[in-house]
Amino acid sequence: MSVVERTVVADPRAALRADVLAGLAHRPRRLPSKYFYDARGSALFEAITVQPEYYLTRVERELLARHIGAISAAVGPRAHVVEYGSGSGVKTECLLDALEAPAAYTPVEISGAALDDCVARLRLRFPRLDMLPLQADFTGPLTLRRLSSAARRLVFFPGSTLGNFDDAEALALLRAMAATLGTDGLALVGIDLVKDPAIIEAAYNDAAGVTAAFTLNLLARINRELGADFDLAGFAHQARYVAARERIETRLVSLRPQAVRVAGQRFEFSAGQDILVEYSHKYRDARFTALAAAAGLEVAGAWGGAAEGFGLRLLRRRAPAG
Ligand code: TRP
Repeated sequence: MSVVERTVVADPRAALRADVLAGLAHRPRRLPSKYFYDARGSALFEAITVQPEYYLTRVERELLARHIGAISAAVGPRAHVVEYGSGSGVKTECLLDALEAPAAYTPVEISGAALDDCVARLRLRFPRLDMLPLQADFTGPLTLRRLSSAARRLVFFPGSTLGNFDDAEALALLRAMAATLGTDGLALVGIDLVKDPAIIEAAYNDAAGVTAAFTLNLLARINRELGADFDLAGFAHQARYVAARERIETRLVSLRPQAVRVAGQRFEFSAGQDILVEYSHKYRDARFTALAAAAGLEVAGAWGGAAEGFGLRLLRRRAPAG
């Protein structure tokens, strides 16, 4: 039996309410993307990952499968694997399967339900692996038990989730990650790479409309959990690649003038007024290396580049100069 360690906010509903009200009062309006992942949002995201246009998950899995021998050799035996987010398990299984005698597995996840699912699934698949789930926000410092059975920590951060943070946030996250690694830990990070904008834009505008349903679900969640009255037919999903910033910017655009009530407050929207809901940064190697360096990390291994359009990068703490 594993005890889930919990370091999350005491009142998640109050946190949602405060974040949503602050985001709607802000100009331009914005909503934090971490709230996408309620039960329906998580299911819709899984559906996004199998859309033909959404190359990210497919290519990352292929890279992992193709290079897992080299990755496993670089990591060595008895790693304590710490995954940021609990994911769908496919990439995690591939990694845990290939590593030499992993010591333990810690998924780090805000959602308790997602954490429980992940542990239940992986426990069947890896009955002898020590499961040490942590319910926490991985953007902050983590309190992890020091395992005498572990040779080193391996942070696994796939899916180009790093790209969903702006530069300052990504830097703070990487700094916290560097602290979690200790002196000899490693991190395996998935990053989407800069490429033909048409390919990138199609990935966030799938023809089946799954991504649109995913972003609009954020409004459905706010309606349900905060008693708001967003008319989902009154807003449209918009995802555009902004070349100058090398990122996808996803917004919900009001289709007409309208007023919405959220937690007792009234918000007016003009036609075309939007709410920013997500950035998905695309990286060049030079920029990623510089970002890692600013957090005290260096690239110790790289798989996937321009040909694949997606990269797996192995990071370690940078040796102090001198
Ligand atoms: N990490 C994913 C990405 O940036 C998350 C994601 C995929 C996403 N599709 C999305 C976020 C659409 C918001 C909207 O690709």
